Amino acid sequence: VDEFAFEGPHQAGITTRVQDHLHFASFDMMPHASRDDLVSLLQDWSYAASRMAKGLDVSASGAVGGSPEAPPDDTGEAQGLGATGLTITFGLGPALFETEGDRFGIAARRPAVLVGLPAFVGDALDAAYTGGDLCIQACADDPQVAVHAIRNLSRIAFGRARLRWSQLGFGRTSRTSAEQQTPRNLFGFKDGTANILADDAKALAAHVWVGERDEPAWMAGGSYLVARKIAMLVETWDRLRLSEQDRTIGRAKGSGAPLSGGEEFTEPSFHGGRIDTNAHVRLAHPTVNDGVQILRRGYNYVDGNSDLGTLDAGLFFLSYQRTPEQFIGIQKRLSTDLMSEYIRHIGSGVWAIPPGAQKGSYVGAGLFA
Ligand code: HEM
Repeated sequence: VDEFAFEGPHQAGITTRVQDHLHFASFDMMPHASRDDLVSLLQDWSYAASRMAKGLDVSASGAVGGSPEAPPDDTGEAQGLGATGLTITFGLGPALFETEGDRFGIAARRPAVLVGLPAFVGDALDAAYTGGDLCIQACADDPQVAVHAIRNLSRIAFGRARLRWSQLGFGRTSRTSAEQQTPRNLFGFKDGTANILADDAKALAAHVWVGERDEPAWMAGGSYLVARKIAMLVETWDRLRLSEQDRTIGRAKGSGAPLSGGEEFTEPSFHGGRIDTNAHVRLAHPTVNDGVQILRRGYNYVDGNSDLGTLDAGLFFLSYQRTPEQFIGIQKRLSTDLMSEYIRHIGSGVWAIPPGAQKGSYVGAGLFA
């Protein structure tokens, strides 16, 4: 299986070996857009994405092969760069199913679990980074390739949907393959140690992919994406002594090993009191969450700085799960997380991620069949 191929049973960009860079974008349908506009948009996006995933321009005439009297189909900045592992993943938000008069004719086909996330303790959500009818996650090992993808897909959407908010991420904070080294987040800790990996078919079936018997049938092979823009108060964190940093996470900053002992991949033990009851890894661990797991795929971000000279930095958290309930349960459990003092959730969204497109078809086809 080509893990980067656009077509397949699942969309690329979920279990795909996590790439180094992210450009994420949320879109709203235009107020007058019709069902035909939505279908044609998903078709046009899928066609362009299938080409870009092969390192091609968005159309056959592309950046420079068309008429000199017309603007080129492709904006051109990815010429010569290749695909660099580009994956483009499309999602459908709850609001798409809630239009006045059911403009898109899809209200009856809405997944029951696709509703807005509840408010969580400590939320400080900003509408400027929250929600959206549609989302696109573009990941690539070259940042320009990811940006080119979002830019061209936004351009293709013209008149049907428009960009609502977007986020660049520069460093992965997870791994989905045992061959990948565990990266570090902006607190300096290894992140992604206990993630679900691409070869763990059993965990993927249990926790990530919507099953054949789950409702609705058109989502089988799909997943649900939760995005949270989480600001990290890095200057405050950086004044914490090392032992406190370790206690907050429940792991050693250097090795990533749990404080209960062993090495990075030793399972943490919560008996014996060496890991604080409110350490992040304990509260996020399956043993205190009814066995629930999620596939994390987030990125570090720095969006400049504040007037006070602090970095506007954080984690753009992305997780894939079989139902958003998995994220909701863990996030509720994290209400007493020692880490809460050093982070703020400032953006949020949830999207249904339909299964992958069949060859010659498009992402979301099952919703309109
Ligand atoms: C584990 C950092 C937010 C869920 C970890 C680890 C670190 C970390 C360092 C240990 C290494 C690992 O296993 O990956 C952070 C930071 C966050 C954040 C810096 C915010 C800025 C969240 C959120 C959730 C979450 C919002 C879900 C609601 C998890 C899970 C684990 C984990 C499920 C693995 C637990 C296990 O099975 O051992 N996180 N995290 N994290 N985190 Fe977070």
